Amino acid sequence: MSTQVADASLSLQAALRDVAAEVDRQFDHLLAVPADPRARLYEAMRHAAIGGGKRLRPLLTFATAQLFAVDRICAARAATAIECIHVYSLIHDDLPAMDDDDMRRGKPTVHKAFDEATAILAGDCLHALAFEILADPATHADPFVRNELIADLARASGPSGMAGGQMMDLMAEGQSFDLATVTRCQALKTGALIACSVEAGAILGRVPPEGRTGLRGYARDIGLAFQIADDILDVEGDQDAVGKQLRKDEAAGKETFLTLLGLDRAREQARLLVNQSIAHLHSYGPEADLLRAIARFVLERDR
Ligand code: IPE
Ligand code: IPE
Ligand code: MG
Ligand code: MG
Ligand code: MG
Repeated sequence: MSTQVADASLSLQAALRDVAAEVDRQFDHLLAVPADPRARLYEAMRHAAIGGGKRLRPLLTFATAQLFAVDRICAARAATAIECIHVYSLIHDDLPAMDDDDMRRGKPTVHKAFDEATAILAGDCLHALAFEILADPATHADPFVRNELIADLARASGPSGMAGGQMMDLMAEGQSFDLATVTRCQALKTGALIACSVEAGAILGRVPPEGRTGLRGYARDIGLAFQIADDILDVEGDQDAVGKQLRKDEAAGKETFLTLLGLDRAREQARLLVNQSIAHLHSYGPEADLLRAIARFVLERDR
């Protein structure tokens, strides 16, 4: 490994650790447990939100925000809002009505550790909390910036984003999707929130939409590469490292990038996407090295 590559992966590990600690701090503060019958709901949210996950989406927001010298507190709040949506989506994704999973992030899923009704409500609350955080003037002094953050996260979460992709994913169990349909499903299910994580950094940095083309190309390509890596991990990953039940896609009879392309071509496709995502950053200098390191991590990760 060249020194340069070693340095980049070292600083990526440090950045992942820093962001994880920052997001944990934010959640610890936001989810203080009240001394009343709602305590169980807060405990369930804390179980899901604190101390787990790669925090890839928050890191993307931080790494993009740092290109534009955004205030760290603003970036931390926007990053935490996006992680709220992600954690809510995982809680609901694991429910018996959806993927019926017992393990998440190396711990029992929320409906296992608590119960189904509490898991549904914990997801609902994290969904609402995301927008409460973004609407707060502490996230940005300019209401137009806050409004754009809110609108973008709403779009990335709803029927044109994550939830729409989850619906397509459920429909994939009963019919066989072609490559274009699988790509669209994944772009919505996983890609939209990853794209929003990058976009949020640019919105906070007041980059006009016409100045975001390269960043949007970067985000789209790592989003797809990320999902191909998730599919590969589902087949080849180590369950203890990944922290969730694997070998589920085949059991569900779903078409994925792997079933459609085969392992070798899927891996090759993901590698091409990572290179292409880095090429989209050509107008940035070393200040975008963290984004470049994240792109490589998306594929090389073992969890
Ligand atoms: C898992 O996302 C669900 C997908 C969108 C494929 P991550 O792999 O980012 O999960 P955590 O946040 O690290 O647990
Ligand atoms: C879920 O996709 C993506 C979400 C929007 C939560 P998966 O069902 O493939 O995620 P895992 O494999 O359970 O993490
Ligand atoms: Mg699922
Ligand atoms: Mg799942
Ligand atoms: Mg999966």
